[in-house]
Amino acid sequence: MIIAVDGPAASGKGTIARALARHYGLPHLDTGLLYRAVGVSVERAGGDPADPADALAGCDFDPALLGDPALKTESAGRAASLVSVHPPVRAALLDRQRAFAGQPGGAVLDGRDIGTVIAPQADAKLFVTASSRVRAERRFHELERMGADVPFEAVMADIIARDQRDAGRSTAPLRQADDADLLDTSDLGIDAAVQRAISLVEARTADR
Ligand code: DC
Repeated sequence: MIIAVDGPAASGKGTIARALARHYGLPHLDTGLLYRAVGVSVERAGGDPADPADALAGCDFDPALLGDPALKTESAGRAASLVSVHPPVRAALLDRQRAFAGQPGGAVLDGRDIGTVIAPQADAKLFVTASSRVRAERRFHELERMGADVPFEAVMADIIARDQRDAGRSTAPLRQADDADLLDTSDLGIDAAVQRAISLVEARTADR
């Protein structure tokens, strides 16, 4: 069984994808980490994530980078969003994601284009979202817990800029697949959101 989980930044898609993977005993791939690794590797090499040639060179990142805590930062997220607009970067990361989705027994993948581009054949597709204010509040509290002192307005502006870039790019933009179920987590806690996600997957796969 392949489960595709897409959605904007801080929607809860990562938490939901991990919980689904645990529930169904499936391997999980956070595809955002691949783009983050490209972005961070470009910046560490002194390049510009917005430059197409620099971004493509970043695709040769050291696999050990995928476990680096630096990938979790806001600046890595921004660099990832910048490199991800370049079609050759998306193409360079395609095979790895498709191979993960195609492994025997299936997988859970989360990202922006899993249901539309990477695994359009997925058995269940969730499009996880929440209002931009709720997502900014979640990110703000997460940053606070990590000891970062960033004004709320800056976090909100970053979320909105990321949404516009991810949804506005011409190749594989963030978009709900026609056959995806919408899961709005604005008014749901983690447990309720995960329960709802499991129910939606069950409803899609009941007759298989
Ligand atoms: O999910 P995330 O915040 O880790 O993703 C970081 C950026 O990577 C996101 O802003 C856009 C890009 N991305 C993408 O273009 N396609 C994916 N499947 C996953 C992430």
